[in-house]
Amino acid sequence: MSETLNQATRQAVARLLGVELSQVTRAVILAIGGIKGGIGKSTTAMFLAYVWARLGLKVLVICADPKSGTSRKWARRANGNKDPLPFTVRTHPSDDLEDRILEEGWDQDYDLIIIDTGGDNERILRAAYRIADRMLLTASPSPVDIDVLPDTARTTVGDLGERDIPVSILLTSVKSDAMALDAKKEMRSFGLDVLTQTVKHRLKYQQMYGWTPEGGLDYVAVQHELDNPKEISA
Ligand SMILES: Nc1ncnc2c1ncn2[C@@H]1O[C@H](COP(=O)(O)OP(=O)(O)OP(=O)(O)O)[C@@H](O)[C@H]1O
Ligand SMILES: [Mg+2]
Repeated sequence: MSETLNQATRQAVARLLGVELSQVTRAVILAIGGIKGGIGKSTTAMFLAYVWARLGLKVLVICADPKSGTSRKWARRANGNKDPLPFTVRTHPSDDLEDRILEEGWDQDYDLIIIDTGGDNERILRAAYRIADRMLLTASPSPVDIDVLPDTARTTVGDLGERDIPVSILLTSVKSDAMALDAKKEMRSFGLDVLTQTVKHRLKYQQMYGWTPEGGLDYVAVQHELDNPKEISA
């Protein structure tokens, strides 16, 4: 944990970990995965990293996606655009994530580590899940997906295995609030935890690729819900 960590950031980290302040001795690890039909893992990782960095946390995004490597490329582009991100992005597209984090001492150097997992790589998704304090799965409630979404989500969550960490689903690229509401209702009836806050479909999210995601858009509310799970219930 960084020595500059102040009381407010320690409180935010503690809330995310769900522990007492006195026990916060390492970075919180948030793993971002996806379920079938889901998009927006990398966008979610980068926007949330931005929002927490702006709150004062020292944030590391690990780009663990061997295929598209979007968060790595995003950071590289931002440097090229002379718009360096207010957080660090490192690459480790392999399933020995835990070893790498410990070897590099990232768990001590950062307050929050966000792992951006790849779309098709189950081994990396599981490796991220094994070391995570919290898991966020993105999904998009498109009309085509909506029927299969609850089942697929349940299977994905079930397949992750037994671990006592919160696993939540975030609906992204939402084009219709009514559709999102239906998807939430359906998934909740299967016992899945779906965040109340959703991320709307907006061109702005696509345009911010390669830039600091200034303002954070819908992810400000998502971060708030993640940090204050009890406050929002609808
Ligand atoms: N809320 C949104 N509104 C509109 N477009 C979005 C939104 N979120 C993400 N996108 C766009 O959708 C595409 C996929 O997003 P992203 O790369 O974040 O998904 P991913 O799940 O990480 O994909 P991959 O499986 O390739 O890693 C990108 O073009 C991105 O800009
Ligand atoms: Mg990605």
